[in-house]
Amino acid sequence: MAYTVVIFGASGDLTSRKLIPALYSQFKKNTLKEKLQIVGVSRSQFEHDQWRNALRETTAKFANEHFDDESWAEFSQNVYYHAGDIKETQDFHELAVFLEKIEEGKPCGRVYYLSTMPQLYEVAIQQLGAAGLADDSVAFRRVIIEKPFGTDLKSAQALNESIHKVFREDQIYRIDHYLGKETVQNIFALRFANSIFEPIWNRNYVDHIQITVAESVVVGRRGGYYDEAGILRDMFQNHLLQLMMITAMEPPARYDAALVRDEKVKVLHSVRKMSGGDFAANTVRGQYLGYLDEEGVPPNSVTETYAVLKLFCDNWRWKDVPFYLRSGKGMSCRTTQIVIQFRQVPHILFGQKTRMPLGNRLVIQVQPAEGIQLHFETKVPDSEMKTRTSTLDFDFNAMTHGSIPDAYQRLLVDSIVGDASLFARSDEVELAWSIIDPIIAAWRSPAAPTLYPYETDYWGPTEATQWMADQHREWFDFCPVITKE
Ligand code: BG6
Repeated sequence: MAYTVVIFGASGDLTSRKLIPALYSQFKKNTLKEKLQIVGVSRSQFEHDQWRNALRETTAKFANEHFDDESWAEFSQNVYYHAGDIKETQDFHELAVFLEKIEEGKPCGRVYYLSTMPQLYEVAIQQLGAAGLADDSVAFRRVIIEKPFGTDLKSAQALNESIHKVFREDQIYRIDHYLGKETVQNIFALRFANSIFEPIWNRNYVDHIQITVAESVVVGRRGGYYDEAGILRDMFQNHLLQLMMITAMEPPARYDAALVRDEKVKVLHSVRKMSGGDFAANTVRGQYLGYLDEEGVPPNSVTETYAVLKLFCDNWRWKDVPFYLRSGKGMSCRTTQIVIQFRQVPHILFGQKTRMPLGNRLVIQVQPAEGIQLHFETKVPDSEMKTRTSTLDFDFNAMTHGSIPDAYQRLLVDSIVGDASLFARSDEVELAWSIIDPIIAAWRSPAAPTLYPYETDYWGPTEATQWMADQHREWFDFCPVITKE
């Protein structure tokens, strides 16, 4: 069966920088054996060729696979543009006619990609339904929804409810691009394709887990959006909690969308709800110096650009093991890493007690220095019994020759072939909001914990370092060396 990907919001950055380059790369690799057609929809008027020419440039720049004119000519002959306004019912009827025409009346699976402003998601879905475009009696009809999925639990529930009036849950693909990252999927392999980690992957051996998504960039031109969202909505409700779920989940019975997501959801169910003094004791908030001067940010804004959440999973595997989730803009470097910090040895023989904590840790480098390191103590050569931390190092880039596929490549193909394992389910999104909402409310209340200012190009507020030291722990503040070309 042939496929058509219809992108709403076609004139946006995501389309030109990510979606088209990802589809082109998959075309070059011949991942999809059947004919693929792409239709861009937005309000601006373009001829097909005008749009193709604009995309040619951005695809040459951003595609992961090597760009060449011959394959672009072949790929782009099936790329079309159709002007239309999401608010206009008539435009959807015309779109339906256009799609029938290019599909030549043959059964053709369709993926509708909503890459528009989030305020338009509901109306776009209703219009698709009203124009008969969601009817999958002849061929599949799926919808991909970009983040943010709601701004809180209530709006996410309302959005789910209105989408479910048109599409069944199995037709809905909610994107979290972190799940498309190869190194995130590799956590499944690390945990469930090896027998050596499972026996120690629990409260008996793990002291705590740190999940850090540090970004060196600041808010820049996104001030208007960012100030409304703040870091908990922008990064924690989605990416950080996704990383936590995959790190903490039980092995599913099969690698299958329903079963994988069932296990992830159980992790969210187990997250201990914060109340009372927990908000001050178990969270840290920060704002980088200079944020208030960003365009679109009110001069008295109290929006967080840095946060730490100390979460617990109340279940057999993880009871009382802290999960430190940390993210910030304007940090020392761009790095996403998951640190599994193992417990101190039960009895100290070699004078290590001055060190805090001991170096037994597994570090999953999600990006940009993709890899895994195991840190362990070894004897300092030619010393008395002194030890130091050494590293066993796996470099993902050595395996892929520095060309790890972009997250959108995997996610687009999965949506076309109908594998929803790497997409968020409705209950998952809602539960994630139910964890984040009370923290946002507490941070907006008169009893909110202090908002610490911090210098950029550092690891966030110095108070967060002290806060960790008070718990006899230490942040793994490490900017990895990037080896890829
Ligand atoms: C987005 C956030 O979801 O993820 C951005 O809105 C953030 O603020 C981005 O910069 C980070 O994604 P990545 O893939 O660059 O780590």
